[in-house]
Amino acid sequence: MPETIIAGNWKMYGRQPSIDALTAAIAAIESSATVIVFPPLVYLAQVRQALQHTHIQWGAQNIAAAFEDGAYTGEVSGAMLADLGCRYVLVGHSERRQLFSENNTTIATKFISAQAAGLIPILCVGETQEERQAGMTKDIVMGQLQAVIDMAGIEAFKQAIIAYEPVWAIGTGLTASPEQAQVVHSQIREHFATIDGTIASVLTLLYGGSVKPGNAAQLFAMPDINGGLIGGASLDADSFKQICQAV
Ligand code: PGA
Repeated sequence: MPETIIAGNWKMYGRQPSIDALTAAIAAIESSATVIVFPPLVYLAQVRQALQHTHIQWGAQNIAAAFEDGAYTGEVSGAMLADLGCRYVLVGHSERRQLFSENNTTIATKFISAQAAGLIPILCVGETQEERQAGMTKDIVMGQLQAVIDMAGIEAFKQAIIAYEPVWAIGTGLTASPEQAQVVHSQIREHFATIDGTIASVLTLLYGGSVKPGNAAQLFAMPDINGGLIGGASLDADSFKQICQAV
């Protein structure tokens, strides 16, 4: 069975006091899902301190590409993230693809580096508004996935999570309807099933893009949606709690 996961992506938001307050409130959340938060890198140690004796997990929003520790100014290695108790790392988020020029090769490399450090990558994929309107959603999403399958190998997906995040729904207040999201999720599962049926049947598929307390339950009720990757609403402890309890 796929695992049910609710992940909060805090992006580049927060200061020490607000991170402390948010973390303390999230520590008290009870959910049947695995709950993971992704704070900005500089606050990872602080979040670890607050969460280490709770059931809430934490991870990183980014990882250096193909590098072991070394002379790479400004980068953070998978080994360093593991040293801070991270179990998960986001890879391929559309903001990294669009604003930081990460392409499928960079993303596959980061995916491999994450696993080499013992981390579980959450691989984000999704189409833009123009791509959806042009009827290219399936081609774009499967292309993004296949690029990683080609480089990392299908077996790597035994230790990976996928997040379908339509770019047009991220931070816009526009959410894919549960039916629209389910169509893509089932296509993703079918794509994997053509390669390895066992992996396909246990693969955790998260939906992301303007998930809020008001739409979470309907999204999570879809058969191939195994939880969510939450941006804006994860910065508000009460909203995040409601989403964690909507599974
Ligand atoms: P959002 O972000 O929930 O604010 O749309 C989702 C994400 O970027 O992961």
